[in-house]
Amino acid sequence: MSSASRIPPGPRGLALVQAIRFLRRDPLNAMLSFAREYGDLVHLGEGPLHIYMVNHPDLVRDLLVGHAARLRKPRSTTRPVIDFLGSGLLVSEGALWRSERHTMQPVFHHRVIDAYGQEMVACIDAVLAGWHAGDVHDIDEEMLKMTLAMVTRTLFRANVQDAEEMVVRAVKVLQKVSYQQGQLGLPIPRWLPLPGNRQKWHYIDELDVLVARIIQSGRAAGHESGNMIAMLAAGIDQPDSVMTERLLRDEVMTVLLAGHESTANGLTWMWYLLTQHPEVQEQLRAEAEAVLEGRPPTVADFKRLTYAENVVKEALRLYPPAWALPREPLEDIALGDYTLKQGSMVIAAPYVIHRDPRFYPQPDAFIPERFDTDQDTSPFAYIPFGAGPRFCVGTAFAQMAMRMVLVRVQQGFRLTLVPGERVGLDPLLTLRPTNGVHIQMQRWN
Ligand code: HEM
Repeated sequence: MSSASRIPPGPRGLALVQAIRFLRRDPLNAMLSFAREYGDLVHLGEGPLHIYMVNHPDLVRDLLVGHAARLRKPRSTTRPVIDFLGSGLLVSEGALWRSERHTMQPVFHHRVIDAYGQEMVACIDAVLAGWHAGDVHDIDEEMLKMTLAMVTRTLFRANVQDAEEMVVRAVKVLQKVSYQQGQLGLPIPRWLPLPGNRQKWHYIDELDVLVARIIQSGRAAGHESGNMIAMLAAGIDQPDSVMTERLLRDEVMTVLLAGHESTANGLTWMWYLLTQHPEVQEQLRAEAEAVLEGRPPTVADFKRLTYAENVVKEALRLYPPAWALPREPLEDIALGDYTLKQGSMVIAAPYVIHRDPRFYPQPDAFIPERFDTDQDTSPFAYIPFGAGPRFCVGTAFAQMAMRMVLVRVQQGFRLTLVPGERVGLDPLLTLRPTNGVHIQMQRWN
């Protein structure tokens, strides 16, 4: 048998039935356990069903970079999301995606993002003004509100404070229902009376009204640099541009939701980890004191706030909000010694790669210092923002936002987990906490 026609290792027979059940019930632990048992490329499948899991950085590179043009995001995962993101950058494909990426990329350039520092601090301080010593907050909700303000006030020049409760509820419903609908693998029309479907459409309608308002105010704010809405709207009806009123709506909805939710999500897990490591909070505060002497951080300060940068990196390693990157080959593709079938589901999971002891000694431990030294591991062993041409367009924004929030919050507060709080992982479209994360705010003595 030629090596190219070999099937990668994986469970067969009864073990396969059990493995698929395990994957549905507890995908994170299932994928970790398959990687340990079967190695760098795992195959689950029989008959027409084929799932491959890619567990080595070199294979991740070959897949997401080398084969990028021969892949798309699987319909089963994008279909429920397309209901609200339309043809936005996150879910579009082919030539349309290429033009959108080309149009959107300048909005997220470092130079543009760097100018948002002061505005970001103002958004953080507005939330902190509502925190008092001894308060208990669900940090997930607080972070969602904070990053919603950060995204809308910088990129859109809009103030949506009156809608923040609605957006927080909408995010929770859309995550849960879209993930469940993706698992069914079938198109679910709006009228179908399935659990959650009506609620999902209720929130899509509410978000549509909000996005229309955001677009109106973004357009009114004019063409100053960094105003994403004005930049995109300028392309409407231009001969060399794909931009339309509808696509403008889709991009704003995409950046509104993808931008604030994944950043909030990363921050929530970071705070959870910090409550488990008060000594890291002490060290963060000491670094902030030494560098800032009480004043708010600016973009220029981050060169010297290196411990904070490591804490953000390490939190995104252990809890990558985008825990799995699913792909579907448009034709049979060769990966390592194997052929992956056209139409199958191929998953590169940051959650699994980031916890591989070959690349991260003591993989489950929170050790920010591990990023201190120049590592000789492959860049594809660290993929919280994805890899290849579809890597996260908002990477610079997210990194700056997370560092700003970390440093600014720690200047004022230390955070402790409420006694008895049980924090669970809910791997939906992103890695959500099952029931929030309830945290008590304390002033430093
Ligand atoms: C910690 C925060 C964030 C994380 C962990 C994250 C992660 C990711 C990942 C892994 C992808 C690639 C998905 C794939 O290949 O299947 C992605 C794509 C994307 N992200 Fe982010 N993201 C974050 C923040 C943001 C922000 C702040 C924005 C916008 C303001 C944003 C907008 C997008 C968009 C539009 C795409 C699609 C890009 C394309 O396909 O060309 N993300 N993100």
